[in-house]
Amino acid sequence: MQILVIGTGYVGLVAAAGFAEAGHRVLGIDNDAGKIAKIREGVSPIYEPGLDELLARHQASGSLAFSLDLSDGIAAADAAFICVGTPQSEDGSADLQYVLSVAGAIGSAMALRPLDAKPLVVVDKSTVPVGTAARVHAAIAAKTDRPFEVVSNPEFLREGCAIDDFIRPDRVVVGCRTDHAAAVMKGLYGKFLEASGGQWLRMDPPSAELTKYAANAMLALRISFINEIAGLCEKVGADVDFVKQGIGSDHRIGKFFLNPGPGFGGSCFPKDLQALLKVGRENAHPLRALEATVEANRHQKQVLALKVRAHYDCASGAPAPLAGRRFALWGLAFKAHTDDIREAMSMELIDSLASLGARVVVHDFEAMENVKAKLGDRVEYAADFMEACRGADALLIATEWPQYAAADLEKVGGLLKAKVMFDGRNLFRPEAMKAAGWTYHSIGRVTVSQA
Ligand code: UDX
Repeated sequence: MQILVIGTGYVGLVAAAGFAEAGHRVLGIDNDAGKIAKIREGVSPIYEPGLDELLARHQASGSLAFSLDLSDGIAAADAAFICVGTPQSEDGSADLQYVLSVAGAIGSAMALRPLDAKPLVVVDKSTVPVGTAARVHAAIAAKTDRPFEVVSNPEFLREGCAIDDFIRPDRVVVGCRTDHAAAVMKGLYGKFLEASGGQWLRMDPPSAELTKYAANAMLALRISFINEIAGLCEKVGADVDFVKQGIGSDHRIGKFFLNPGPGFGGSCFPKDLQALLKVGRENAHPLRALEATVEANRHQKQVLALKVRAHYDCASGAPAPLAGRRFALWGLAFKAHTDDIREAMSMELIDSLASLGARVVVHDFEAMENVKAKLGDRVEYAADFMEACRGADALLIATEWPQYAAADLEKVGGLLKAKVMFDGRNLFRPEAMKAAGWTYHSIGRVTVSQA
């Protein structure tokens, strides 16, 4: 099949490369000339494992190309994917201006299609509120009387494993009203679904649109729930690792996505929760459990800083116990395997420590450049994660990069002024840390100290 993928951001690039991998002919479109020139040279504007290789291979084979102009490919296209951004507006809702302007451009370019062409399947892949398919339909219909259909096909890609998620989907959700649109979508994804055994879920467009938000909200709710249970574990002397195992082995609950941590971040959960809350308010149906999820996460992002303060308040009794102290911070990205620092808890942690007069030396495997652009010389940048620890009062961990979990803790302890760690990702077991002579704070387990 031949498709257009409009928007070469995160979702668009992964979709373009993924569909090319399935054997389709793909033309990626963006109005940013600099970006298109770079992608054509093989330089991906985003960090995503495996993406560069697919972009290079399929551009070389000719199955994937990029252009500034969607009229280049619309005549022969079976489908056009809208993958442009839906940034958060001030009131929390998703800003649809880019989606609707692409819809208008598709409408104008429809005149280039042969008169006997099958209806163009226009696919909303950007995360959009319920009712957007109807608005996209209206925006295109205002410009053309040639046949087309609008389909909602949300993505469920996780940063860091987006290629794998695309190629081996758990499910493909397709909101459409005609068999023609369903057949085109099945043709596009069929190979992946066959290989992964994933489910094909056909439904109406509003249900597909809501599925995306509901999935993210449900996952966020799970995280906030386990984080709150973790906080309670600390109060009552329980261990969240055991509680997690105990509840996760009930097949109705399941063991995945129950890792307590320093609060969820990223470009999706926080934004999508706000957008869904807005949809609820607009429909006089407040989503109270989600409001609580957001509130719990706001608190959770402070938890590590509160632990640091409590530790040094107790230890020093001085009025400004953090002034002049130096902390090593391992991990800046909102999670491992990405360079993304949007809504990352590390940023709030740095703010809190800096406002109390502490100096922070940071390390991350991918996000250093993004942090340099955002924070400049407000923090120090370590050449490697061991070096960050030299002469620091304590080590803080905000991102679960596997290299940190495999670090030589004896060596780390030797570089720090004292063996004190605040681990926001529970990378180590408290008993082992106690035996190795550490004072170890983590999430939802007893704090071990050498006193
Ligand atoms: C998420 C959804 O998983 C994906 O389906 C959707 O398309 C986009 O949003 P992503 O933002 O890439 O993907 O990250 P994800 O792996 O879901 O993690 C989100 C946040 O939750 C991160 O901050 C992560 O550290 C946190 N998290 C995740 C936990 O704290 N505990 C967990 O058990 C899982």
